[in-house]
Amino acid sequence: MEDKSILLIVGGGIAAYKCLELIRRLRERGVDVRVVMTKAAQQFITPLSVSALTNERVFTELFDLDDEREIGHIRLSRDADLILVAPATADLIAKMANGLANDLASSVLLASDKPPLIAPAMNPQMWLNPATQRNVHQLEADGARFVGPETGEMAERDEAGPGRLAEVPALIHAIEEMTASDRSTRARGSPGPLFDRHVVVTSGPTHEPIDPVRYIANRSSGKQGHAIAGAAAKAGARVTLITGPVNLPDPDGVKTIKVETAREMLAVTEQTLPADVAVFCAAVADWSVAEQGDQKIKKKKGKPPPALKLVANPDILKTIASRKKGRPELVIGFAAETENVLQHARMKLKRKGCDWIVANDVSTETGVMGGDSNSVHLIRTGRHESWPELSKEDVAATLVEEIARELASTKRTAANSKSIRAKVDKR
Ligand SMILES: Cc1cc2nc3c(=O)[nH]c(=O)nc-3n(C[C@H](O)[C@H](O)[C@H](O)COP(=O)(O)O)c2cc1C
Repeated sequence: MEDKSILLIVGGGIAAYKCLELIRRLRERGVDVRVVMTKAAQQFITPLSVSALTNERVFTELFDLDDEREIGHIRLSRDADLILVAPATADLIAKMANGLANDLASSVLLASDKPPLIAPAMNPQMWLNPATQRNVHQLEADGARFVGPETGEMAERDEAGPGRLAEVPALIHAIEEMTASDRSTRARGSPGPLFDRHVVVTSGPTHEPIDPVRYIANRSSGKQGHAIAGAAAKAGARVTLITGPVNLPDPDGVKTIKVETAREMLAVTEQTLPADVAVFCAAVADWSVAEQGDQKIKKKKGKPPPALKLVANPDILKTIASRKKGRPELVIGFAAETENVLQHARMKLKRKGCDWIVANDVSTETGVMGGDSNSVHLIRTGRHESWPELSKEDVAATLVEEIARELASTKRTAANSKSIRAKVDKR
């Protein structure tokens, strides 16, 4: 962390005193710390004690002409390698989630070109309030990172639960992680809502050999799967794309692995796990040829054409969706149907045990196979949405937004049920 610069935004919470210790520990590590304090924060600790530790003046006012000339709110936010909000009050979190900018702290945050690290600290009821949870969810979807809150005793008597500011070592660890990963992601701009997630995507057709020169294939171009891989990478995910033979360039920022058959696709998919999300967009052949010729099968005069005996290929979607160990958090299958699209897709969702099905009508008149646009239905248990006709890139971007929203909400639900359980256990 040496030579990094952190802009610490201190909110008006009882835990503000802990940021004095944090500043000391960061300075010991050679980190340059600048501090912005909200008006409320100054009720808890003084700018004087903070500036004694940072060796810098503390910034408190938005309308401070000297500051605007020398170092305005835009420069304050841009000069830093990372903005840390600690303690992040319910009020500051609400302002960030809604884009308010009515004081120096919120203006600096809104003007920032990088996602902040947020360390919430508040009363458990404030934290668990649906309004705060909505705001947290929104900020996560916007790419912000959270550290804490931790669960335990509150400063108020007889209050316990989630809401304690993360301890200083945990804050330092999160800063280290974020400034380290920032180096690799800076080139791509903001880390995005899938930052730190591993997304596996399959794409294209599979080729099932008949002999060394012939194969069975289908008309999948790979455009939709490749677009999803590209969109997930743009959203900050680490993406592994496993593709059958296609005539497409490898998407930027994606690890692309080329396979030919369904069996290879399954083996490689299993090797790439663990993953947070798996999107099975490939048009995998249902069957392969039972006895493939070692040599080119010859036409024989007067003899009938050879009969091809087919055997079932492994079901990649079902295999991964039904894993007991190492199942991705979100398993999404694609259904290519030519009739009764919704009905067949709903049945597929149940049969395969996946979480979502993206269903598209691939009958020849739609031109979906190989075309540039797609009209899809997103089917989850008990509900479905039909999207208008969109380019395959827009389908990919919309699906990735849905994925980010889903991961953010399951993360919060899990954290809350854990903290509520801890609270109940305590009683
Ligand atoms: C004694 C006291 C302690 C407080 N502690 C917290 C707290 O820990 N977390 C929080 O979100 N708000 C807390 N508040 C409320 C905030 O100070 C208040 O919402 C304020 O407007 C936050 O302003 P800021 O977000 O600009 O810092 C506390 C208020 C008082 C009077």
